[in-house]
Amino acid sequence: MAPDQLKNILITGAAGFIASHVTNRLIKNYPNYKIVALDKLDYCSSLKNLSPSLSAPNFKFIKADIASADLVNYLLVAEEIDTIMHFAAQTHVDNSFGNSFEFTNNNIYGTHVLLEACKITNRVRRFIHVSTDEVYGETNLETDIGNPEASQLLPTNPYSATKAGAEMLVMAYHRPFNDKRYFLDDQKLKRLGWEERTSWEEGLKRTMDCLPSDDNCFLHYKMRGEKEGNLDSSSCLKFLIYGKTDWIGGLLGKLCNEDGIEFEYGRARLENRSSIVEDVRRVRPSHVFNAAGVTGRPNVDWCETHKVETIRTNVVGTLTLADVCKEQGLIMVNFATGCIFEYDEKHPPGSGVGFKEDDKPNFTGSFYSKTKAMVEELLREYENVCTLRHDRARRAPTNLHRNGKEKFDRDMELHQSRSDKPQWILEMYRDHMDPEFKWVNFDLEEQAKVIVAPRSNNEMDSSKLKNEFPNLLGIKDSIIKYVFEPHKKN
Ligand SMILES: NC(=O)c1ccc[n+]([C@@H]2O[C@H](COP(=O)([O-])OP(=O)(O)OC[C@H]3O[C@@H](n4cnc5c(N)ncnc54)[C@H](O)[C@@H]3O)[C@@H](O)[C@H]2O)c1
Repeated sequence: MAPDQLKNILITGAAGFIASHVTNRLIKNYPNYKIVALDKLDYCSSLKNLSPSLSAPNFKFIKADIASADLVNYLLVAEEIDTIMHFAAQTHVDNSFGNSFEFTNNNIYGTHVLLEACKITNRVRRFIHVSTDEVYGETNLETDIGNPEASQLLPTNPYSATKAGAEMLVMAYHRPFNDKRYFLDDQKLKRLGWEERTSWEEGLKRTMDCLPSDDNCFLHYKMRGEKEGNLDSSSCLKFLIYGKTDWIGGLLGKLCNEDGIEFEYGRARLENRSSIVEDVRRVRPSHVFNAAGVTGRPNVDWCETHKVETIRTNVVGTLTLADVCKEQGLIMVNFATGCIFEYDEKHPPGSGVGFKEDDKPNFTGSFYSKTKAMVEELLREYENVCTLRHDRARRAPTNLHRNGKEKFDRDMELHQSRSDKPQWILEMYRDHMDPEFKWVNFDLEEQAKVIVAPRSNNEMDSSKLKNEFPNLLGIKDSIIKYVFEPHKKN
């Protein structure tokens, strides 16, 4: 970004001695810049230092501590910060002899929080870190050449040591975060008679050979900086799941527990971008699953009268999550619905021709389906998103198998021919569960009188799943095995 495009500046420690002058000068000379001044107003600072700026329209003061990661993350996103000028610090050397932990907390940890926030939110283009000459330590009185930037850092008191520590962090975050080569002078070892027994190339080859072959696994292993050894593929996975209270979200957690896969449920509301970023920072997932969404209670008719709420979660929320995942290089598995299709000429009822992944949604009769169809169209542009469509017409808790994919296939099959489904399911219930069971049928016209929005009827193509799992039971056998039998009264 060119300097003239940098406009929204966060100045930390803005109520202190130096930063207040910088702030006042910027406000006066650059009315087109937005200045967000942050300071925790410690004993040594005063808002009065900023009085020339307080009434300026491009000035905002925030009383806060840079050590608060949530707040800093939020600020960077909410204020669209592109530049940080970081002055905030404990600065009085004498105090650092008595209360040195304060210096570590504010100067090192505080700087670290700012840097990490820049990394996570990935929007700050320029980070100006204000340090001190004291990091070089005492300079010989006889010397008449000053310390160049690359001089060795030799701090001599806790204040300058923490400023030097902060400099190291700034340097690390400025680099690609992963060095390709470390090279040490080993002449002293050689003089002691030590020789390498394994060449560098051979050692590297052996290390690579003992790592798991799965590329993703290796990448993730590196990313999480875990120690060598004892890695199986599940130890590389950590799922961040949205939709804890949702039926599918609950099942996902259960499957992870059974398969020993680490997971955590997301705490963020989907539409709250900075909270999602915070979830990702906290959990550091390998994959993100989205089973959250508004379906309406008691049914989708609710969405007809709560359109904005439906949009907020199903459209804004889902897209925000996909976008954050894209930004963070994460795969998102999105649980979508089959209710965006309706039998048509090419897919008539009973024909066995189901809707496929690439078919365009053709049912938007209910507002719920409309939002889902819209989002699917947009999600196609995100190559990091995998969409799994299913229908959860049957909610029996036992309609679950250890293998998630089998479950989806059954669900897809369950979706077939919804209009004739009730009849045969009721017959099956009578035959397997309760010979006395009786019911009264109603037709679609009668149904239409008690529901607000039309419902979709379709059949989805499940050939991909069947190819992968040829032993899958058909819909009726599945229902008998997974729904009726476990519930049979002895
Ligand atoms: N004054 C100097 O001679 C000098 C020399 C070299 C370097 N520096 C560096 O310049 C910067 C500014 O120095 P100064 O003299 O203006 O210091 P100062 O003490 O006057 O101002 C520091 C400001 O930072 C704020 N602050 C401290 N910890 C904070 C935190 N955790 N969150 C939010 N705000 C916090 C304080 O409230 C204060 O307003 C510092 O980084 C300092 O190390 C100053």
